[in-house]
Amino acid sequence: MEREKVIVIDFGGQYNQLVARRVRECNVYCEIYSYRTPLDEIKAMKPAGIILTGGPNSVYAEGAAGCKRDLFEMGIPVLGLCYGAQLMMHVLGGKVEKAAAREYGKTPTKFDTSSELFKGIPEESVVWMSHFDYISAIAPGFTAIAHTDNCPVAAAEDRDAGLYLLQFHPEVLHTEYGKEILYNFVRGICGCAGDWRMDSFVETQIKAIREKVGSGKVLCALSGGVDSSVAAVLLSKAIGKQLTCVFVDHGLLRKNEGDEVESVFGPDGPYELNFIRVNAADRYYEKLAGVSEPEKKRKIIGEEFIRVFEEEAKKIGAVDYLVQGTIYPDVVESGLGGESAVIKSHHNVGGLPDHVDFKEIIEPLRDLFKDEVRKAGLELGIPEYLVFRQPFPGPGLGIRIIGDVTADKVRIVQDADAIYREEVDKAVEIWREKHSEPDSKELPPWMPDQYFAALTNMRSVGVMGDERTYDYAIALRAVKTIDFMTAECAQLPYKLLMAATSRIINEVRGVNRVMYDLTSKPPGTIEFE
Ligand code: XMP
Repeated sequence: MEREKVIVIDFGGQYNQLVARRVRECNVYCEIYSYRTPLDEIKAMKPAGIILTGGPNSVYAEGAAGCKRDLFEMGIPVLGLCYGAQLMMHVLGGKVEKAAAREYGKTPTKFDTSSELFKGIPEESVVWMSHFDYISAIAPGFTAIAHTDNCPVAAAEDRDAGLYLLQFHPEVLHTEYGKEILYNFVRGICGCAGDWRMDSFVETQIKAIREKVGSGKVLCALSGGVDSSVAAVLLSKAIGKQLTCVFVDHGLLRKNEGDEVESVFGPDGPYELNFIRVNAADRYYEKLAGVSEPEKKRKIIGEEFIRVFEEEAKKIGAVDYLVQGTIYPDVVESGLGGESAVIKSHHNVGGLPDHVDFKEIIEPLRDLFKDEVRKAGLELGIPEYLVFRQPFPGPGLGIRIIGDVTADKVRIVQDADAIYREEVDKAVEIWREKHSEPDSKELPPWMPDQYFAALTNMRSVGVMGDERTYDYAIALRAVKTIDFMTAECAQLPYKLLMAATSRIINEVRGVNRVMYDLTSKPPGTIEFE
């Protein structure tokens, strides 16, 4: 049976993935394609509906992204957003003009709620606008169905043709009823049943993997991160011991993390699979000795991973499939900007080896966004602490130790980081006691999306007891972020910072100073290297 789907045609807007995620939140499967994708290919996918995203251009700009009139004549409902809305009007005979001023930000808007698109929402609410050009005349057959003080056509429809447009962005949370509007489009106008759910995803994937793999052998590089863990469990549920997972412990993991991964995936864990842990710390430390240039460190760590993995793979012999934890944003990002119209897969995301003998790559999560990977993980019964683990970079603590890496520095940063995490946990508990119901999972407003300790390469003078010390400074980092592209320093409570500082200095040998990093991204990055 073919999967019900909506297609998002991307015109280069900054919210393209957000549009797709919002559609998926309506339980409708959705894929993103570049505007350069030939119309025949789009048609062949038999979408239930099409959404045109915003874009950075004006329809009059030289080389502006365009589309053919045929797109609107396929009998498939189309919703144009922002640039997509203007393009629809431009192509169908309306008029788009330069406005005297840009309309930007939260904007009160009046809606004609007799339109299917605005069913069930109030007649007036706030939307998020961000445009220079505006639609000054709508195309024949269309009716305006929303307006603002400055914008005569904030939305329009040609009901009979199934064409709709919104000058604003329903996908961003600042648009009060954005979710409802998108729901009305995909579930109402497009008639989607809404059968995209993670329980059925898991079930169908397990069946599909079994059919594909047959009695073949499968190899998976397991990092303990969310994506590779969910991929590994999915495979193990489907084919059990036909799966071998290789976990390379590069000695740059957080404190006890290697053992935690082993306790979940190893022989004493709940899953049936072959698990190989390679303790390669010494090899890595040797290779990294004396190297302080960040890019060089990253390269060494990446290359060494491939080498270790290849050695293990050789011992196992030929396998039929190699598993990768590629997820949908990787797929989308690898497809944009290039000349190829159809988005291609991102095979080398994890930088996997060329010399491993396998027939094909399996990417069971390549259709999922991160939040869907997490949901799938919960469906599969993976422990919550693994599913909701904060992101951890591939090169691990290697890039949280500024300058050269030694075993002793790894110990320092591991211990400091473990204390920091304990203190954050404690502060969350204290906050919950005061602010939320018993057993609630609610998080305090200051809760960072990512936080860690890093070892600055700076040593400074201190005094402990009556003795002079000359030891390292630890930097604590905590950020709030939605997409990890931009981030702000999280405003952790002073009490928490003081408690962590005092414990780190008292308990971690080699540290006599702790600092809190207040830098946002940009101009800083989240990691230190
Ligand atoms: P930056 O430091 O670039 O980090 O602001 C943004 C996010 O990406 C993570 N990060 C990495 N993840 N391999 C990864 O898998 C890497 O080499 C890497 N470098 C940074 C970082 O932890 C943050 O969440």
